[in-house]
Amino acid sequence: MNICNREGGRCADMAMVCLTDFEEYAKEHLSKATWDYYAAGADECCTRDDNLLAYKRIRLRPRILRDVSVSDTRTTVQGTEISFPVGIAPTAFHCLAWHEGEVATARATEALNTCYITSTYSTCSVEEIVAAAPNGYRWFQLYVYRDRKLSEQIVHRVEGLGYKALVLTVDVPYTGKRRDDIRNQFKLPPHLKVKNFDGVFQQETAGPEEYGIPANTLDPSISWKDVYWLQSITRLPIIIKGILTKEDAELAVEHGVQGIIVSNHGGRQLDGGPASIDALSEIVETVQGRIEVYVDGGIRTGSDVLKALALGAKCVFIGRPAVWGLAYKGEEGVREVLQILNDEFRLSMALSGCRNVAEINRNLIQFSRL
Ligand code: FNR
Repeated sequence: MNICNREGGRCADMAMVCLTDFEEYAKEHLSKATWDYYAAGADECCTRDDNLLAYKRIRLRPRILRDVSVSDTRTTVQGTEISFPVGIAPTAFHCLAWHEGEVATARATEALNTCYITSTYSTCSVEEIVAAAPNGYRWFQLYVYRDRKLSEQIVHRVEGLGYKALVLTVDVPYTGKRRDDIRNQFKLPPHLKVKNFDGVFQQETAGPEEYGIPANTLDPSISWKDVYWLQSITRLPIIIKGILTKEDAELAVEHGVQGIIVSNHGGRQLDGGPASIDALSEIVETVQGRIEVYVDGGIRTGSDVLKALALGAKCVFIGRPAVWGLAYKGEEGVREVLQILNDEFRLSMALSGCRNVAEINRNLIQFSRL
């Protein structure tokens, strides 16, 4: 959705004021197939679009006269301090948006001192990412493959490289139906690869392919017992990404994981599911602080971040906006996207009377309107 409503084209030397400016730039400068791939939602895109609209339905209850001359946006995730509560969600194929790909994303997040969740489907290898930003704080997003050895090898690789947590994505037993990708017959261009598995899939490339890897590589039989399996092969904290109900949140806590990302995969999987911000409250209420709860999907402004924290998220993650930043100016573009969100968040905090993230709570939300 573009709410800036500007006439004419957007070029690289125009001031970038809000995240939708980056969206507009990316739409103009990426190839149609690449833009469609990033923008895609499943089926009719109801859930994708509701992710944004749901934030716009929420109203705040600002407090006044609270001396907001000094403000502090720092927080912690899994015990590590980050400079503000916005990290980068795992998204695939950053080299489609910018030639340096994930290496640029890693440098930007290191510079801004926040968390970068590297996607399994990176177009740079995890070794290249770590070498480019050795002091960055990173988690690794994992899928469970039919061949458990493949998953096990990548877990051990990222553990050895200093990744600090595993994010197990659980909402992709099968890939959602993204109509434009089907129409465009989306494929990774031949010069790009899913670098973390370079060589591994080569003998199978004759068969049908889905998003850069052979179709049917992911295991649709994945179940809660695989969480125990994952715990048995790693000492890293495990964060489950893709929970949308209190029932599954309770199961996650019972299975001993360290965090939940409330997510509908940016509306790319089940169409008709809730906006992730609408699912957050019941999960926060169920978890009762036993583990950290994060949210992604539809975050485009600093006040969206404030709303998510007020509803109980410890931190939020952005998916598409990071890719738009890459498409704009690589590392510099991602830095700008993060900096704009940080500045907007700091301003929203101050305008609602919060001096630090500990002061953000449910009293900020006007529930009578929801
Ligand atoms: C994703 N997402 C995703 N999630 C994941 O666990 N592994 C992945 O490889 C990807 N890849 C991916 C590619 C693209 C192009 C998009 C847009 C999304 C989902 C992502 O982590 C996140 O849940 C959403 O992007 C959040 O929504 P917004 O911020 O894009 O609205």
